[in-house]
Amino acid sequence: MNENKKIPLKVFIKTFGCQMNEHDSERMYGILSDHGYTFTHQEKEADLILINSCSIRQKAEQKAFSILGRYRALKAKNPRLHIGFCGCIAQREARSILCRAPFVDLIFGTKNIHRLPQLIEKMGKTHKPIIEVIDDDSGRFEQFLGKIRRENHIKAWATIMQGCDNYCTYCVVPYVRGREWSRSAGDIIAEIKTLALQGYKEVTLLGHNVNSYGKGQDCTFPELIQRIQPIPGIERIRFTTSHPKDLSEELIVTIKDCSKVCEHIHLPFQSGSDKILKRMRRHYSHNDYLKKVDFLRKIIPDIAITSDVIVGFPGEREEDFQQTLQLIETIQFEGLFTFLYSIRPQTTAGNFSEQVPNNIKQERFNILLQIQNQISSARNALLVNTKQEILAEEILREDKRTSSIEKLRGRTRSNKIVEFEGSSDLIGNLFEIEIRKANRFNLEGIIL
Ligand code: 5AD
Ligand code: SF4
Repeated sequence: MNENKKIPLKVFIKTFGCQMNEHDSERMYGILSDHGYTFTHQEKEADLILINSCSIRQKAEQKAFSILGRYRALKAKNPRLHIGFCGCIAQREARSILCRAPFVDLIFGTKNIHRLPQLIEKMGKTHKPIIEVIDDDSGRFEQFLGKIRRENHIKAWATIMQGCDNYCTYCVVPYVRGREWSRSAGDIIAEIKTLALQGYKEVTLLGHNVNSYGKGQDCTFPELIQRIQPIPGIERIRFTTSHPKDLSEELIVTIKDCSKVCEHIHLPFQSGSDKILKRMRRHYSHNDYLKKVDFLRKIIPDIAITSDVIVGFPGEREEDFQQTLQLIETIQFEGLFTFLYSIRPQTTAGNFSEQVPNNIKQERFNILLQIQNQISSARNALLVNTKQEILAEEILREDKRTSSIEKLRGRTRSNKIVEFEGSSDLIGNLFEIEIRKANRFNLEGIIL
């Protein structure tokens, strides 16, 4: 062993991307703290910096590489610093990361997180970079039970499935997260029972397509929800993300019947044009989507619906874009995440002809955003003077002189952020609030 290269002690993790990635970082914190590592919020203090990367769009990749450049400068000043690169980019192109950034000490894939302590140890013993990208499902979740280090003590994520078999033509997820894989219901229930005993009030069931949970297991997604519903202590159940084609009537009825399941669904529609939906390989049409939403609203009238949309997918003409606008006008989403189409390696759409020029993409993006902003404000305004159940989640501002709390933040069951005045002992409690003011992205209210 090279004595100059000691195993790093203080770790800083920089996370990009979705909730799945953030939860993976919680797993890394957990498994490292179990092995005696400590953590810092200051990059400059760290002995090991891990970049947990996202590759969903080119911009996300650029962010990871630009921060890598910054860390290279830190390493030049502090030769003891080690840099690790993981997450979705690492899964796809471990070797090319090394060509681009030979100063990186460790690269590992999305299915190798459970091996992190051993990999770091190995890294401390050699001058050569360590690469481990192995398609290994065995250690994915159960080795982390009881070890995940969650920042939030009220709401927790619980992974129920991972990966995706849909191969939407724009999407990199199947290439970076692999085939669909569901955890056993027993393990999920055990994890959520432990969370409840630890005082967590809300659980969000996570997966790339939670609706199709159950492959290889003798439990469907609606059945899983029905089994989570009676767990004492858990007051709210959420789930994300859902694919419209897998949103069954049985699931909708289950959401209605299980009182703890919050009235909110994130249901990405991606485009309002049938031609584009077909090219995206989404397996539903504009009208199918409207019908699903009609049924959802018939069974659960106050359900909040949010969505994702991509503008500028190859072949998107003005008339296709107009159909997307028509869909958002018809549905009136509570919120919408709008993305410019970005070519992804390995995906089918990357080779499609008729790529849309950037200026047109941007123009459509701006139009869509403006319309949706008006819709979001109008939807929020509907809540003024209504009473809403709130779970108080965090302190926003504290009065330092009196140490009494001035402002708190919580969420409605429909997942809207509400700010209100109250004291810190309310954190983690559910109570009613009257909404007094609506802004575009949040609400303000008073405790009743
Ligand atoms: N370009 C732009 N947006 C994308 N998304 C996924 N792949 C791409 C891509 N290549 C969006 C989809 C998805 C969300 C997580 O990211 O809208 O629902
Ligand atoms: Fe990004 Fe998709 Fe990976 Fe999440 S799963 S980090 S969105 S590429």
